[in-house]
Amino acid sequence: MATPSPRVFRWGIISTGWMAGKFVDDLLIDPKTRDVRDVVHKVVAVASRDVKKADDFVKDHVSTVQKDDSDPKATAYGSYDELYADENIDVVYVGTPHTQHYPAALGAIRAGKNVLCEKPVTANSFELKSLIAEAKKHNVFFMEAMWTKFQPLVREVKKILDDEGELGVGRPVVLYADFSMNFRPHDLPLMHRLVDPKLGGGAMLDLGPYPLAWALMTILEHPANNLQPPSSIQSSVIKFAPTGVDQNTTITLTFSNPTSTWKSSSDTTGPKPFTATAILHSSLTIPDPTPGAVIRCERGTIEIHAPIPRSTGFTVKYYNGPGEGEAGKVKKEFTREFEYEGFGWHFQADEVARCVWGGKLESEQWGHEKSLVMMSVFDEVRRQCGYVFPEGVEHVVGDS
Ligand SMILES: NC(=O)c1ccc[n+]([C@@H]2O[C@H](COP(=O)([O-])OP(=O)(O)OC[C@H]3O[C@@H](n4cnc5c(N)ncnc54)[C@H](OP(=O)(O)O)[C@@H]3O)[C@@H](O)[C@H]2O)c1
Repeated sequence: MATPSPRVFRWGIISTGWMAGKFVDDLLIDPKTRDVRDVVHKVVAVASRDVKKADDFVKDHVSTVQKDDSDPKATAYGSYDELYADENIDVVYVGTPHTQHYPAALGAIRAGKNVLCEKPVTANSFELKSLIAEAKKHNVFFMEAMWTKFQPLVREVKKILDDEGELGVGRPVVLYADFSMNFRPHDLPLMHRLVDPKLGGGAMLDLGPYPLAWALMTILEHPANNLQPPSSIQSSVIKFAPTGVDQNTTITLTFSNPTSTWKSSSDTTGPKPFTATAILHSSLTIPDPTPGAVIRCERGTIEIHAPIPRSTGFTVKYYNGPGEGEAGKVKKEFTREFEYEGFGWHFQADEVARCVWGGKLESEQWGHEKSLVMMSVFDEVRRQCGYVFPEGVEHVVGDS
């Protein structure tokens, strides 16, 4: 029997910055290279605040790759509103700076468009709640572009974490996760989005979504925790003096589920209350370490090779049994590596297409609730360290 042809999923791209270019480059890689047969992505429109930039973007990132001559060809628009009105679009990708996610996503949603919005999904949790309400009202799909969740490695790590059998490592006890980059902030212009508070600058909102995503994927989602949000959020922040944004940020989260009924295969007693800690770090001044994340569990440790947004390798080390010798001694270990064409931003795009075609308003894998936990943690850390956005930056500042 002949294999059915993949369906075409049509994207409109908002903004022509660095990330939008990278996303489109991945989007247009042949999905068969990652064994995806049901969807093929097509860019049908690109919008910039300057039509010349949109034109150049189409030439540089779309026309050279998208060989398909079928209509519609990619249109370049000189305003975001024109793109929202384009009837040929199945989904809008938002790649503006953090503090411009809200207006861009809102414009698309109100025009009845499905939206994939870059991380951090908004500047604060109130903006996010407002976007979720609008998306539901307009019956459109809305997702934060948390591409890490859709990496093939994450699926395999989660199997080991949740596995009650041979490969299982027992319950997570503590996660250390770090995503840092040396952006040399003192050499950047003060209006650069990484250091300008008007654009949501700082380590936490730019790099911090990844360590936090690992905490949510490994602890929040663990069956013993059963999606309970952190019961405690504590932070320590070193500021970037010239602008006051956070330069080095450490967050400690405690998760607890006193009524957990989950039992690992190594538990000889009945279910017990669950508690685990996540220690997360991001910095604008140092490179990231490898392993970038270490998940210490009751029976072993999983090391996630850097970089943690798109790790392509992990190592599992099993401890000697309880009371069987030196602390930390490893009984056995194995490593798994993953390869694919592209950088890894395309896996989330496949999920978006399937959700939209399935009539879903949110992804079951990275739904609204997880983005809300993430933004609530960031709000709390900003409150604790006194990082206040300049007047007018936040578009929504309280529950309506
Ligand atoms: N997923 C990832 O791995 C990843 C990696 C890097 C960045 N990101 C995210 O992607 C977003 C954009 O980052 P980027 O590095 O691509 O930034 P960028 O290069 O500065 O691009 C942002 C684009 O947004 C548009 N824009 C709209 N309003 C703007 C304003 N007030 N000031 C400046 N630009 C404005 C501009 O495009 P037009 O002039 O064409 O309208 C600009 O080119 C951020 O939220 C960031 O967190 C994600």
